[in-house]
Amino acid sequence: MDALSLKPYVDARARHPDARRLEAMLDRIIPRPGLHARFVNTLARLEYVGVRKMLKSRRAERLDLDGLQHLLDEAVHALRLKKAAVALGAASAAGVTTFADAETLAGDAGEAYFQALDRRAESALAALDGAERAEANYLLTSAAIEVRAQAFYPIYEQRLRAHGAPFSVSAITKDEDRHLEEMSQRLHVVLGPERRGLQAVLAEEEVLYGRFLTAAEIAIGAASARADSTAPATAPATT
Ligand SMILES: [Fe+2]
Ligand SMILES: [Fe+2]
Repeated sequence: MDALSLKPYVDARARHPDARRLEAMLDRIIPRPGLHARFVNTLARLEYVGVRKMLKSRRAERLDLDGLQHLLDEAVHALRLKKAAVALGAASAAGVTTFADAETLAGDAGEAYFQALDRRAESALAALDGAERAEANYLLTSAAIEVRAQAFYPIYEQRLRAHGAPFSVSAITKDEDRHLEEMSQRLHVVLGPERRGLQAVLAEEEVLYGRFLTAAEIAIGAASARADSTAPATAPATT
């Protein structure tokens, strides 16, 4: 089966200015366990929303072994990240019990990113009918998410190592690599040679992701301002 290569899109995202923006943001988050706990909780929430979308959109008659494995992998990602968030939270007294906005870092903005992407894929595929559209939407939205995951997680892993953080996301990166390969194979079949909607959805994803980064930067700024206003006047400065 021919595959539609998604790797060039991953490479383009790694060169995009938002990659440097993410690094700078992570360098502000990782040294502060409370903030980091909320950020990891946001990632866990996004993995969970991905599982929920798959459960809703994939019909039994289309679901194969790879499909079940994908569901399970994303649920495991959510669980691993949640456990890391809880461990960081315990060390810093940050509440990360649920995925409520206050217990995440821009968690609502993260979920809005996902929902808007889903809607964009839906409109790109409006010409298809019922079951076919649901399946194509799953593939198109997943492809955009997997491309982002493959640009995001390697940078995150690199910054975790640079800061000597107590956990790793390299196992997640390996799974996402496999998912990206699966999407590449199946998109070629479902979207056809004209790659219906792919460019538009990937372009929209880039805009939506930029918006999410902005929301996260604002949340970091607000958390920093709160920390400054509650810190004792004699406390040593922290970064
Ligand atoms: Fe994932
Ligand atoms: Fe994935």
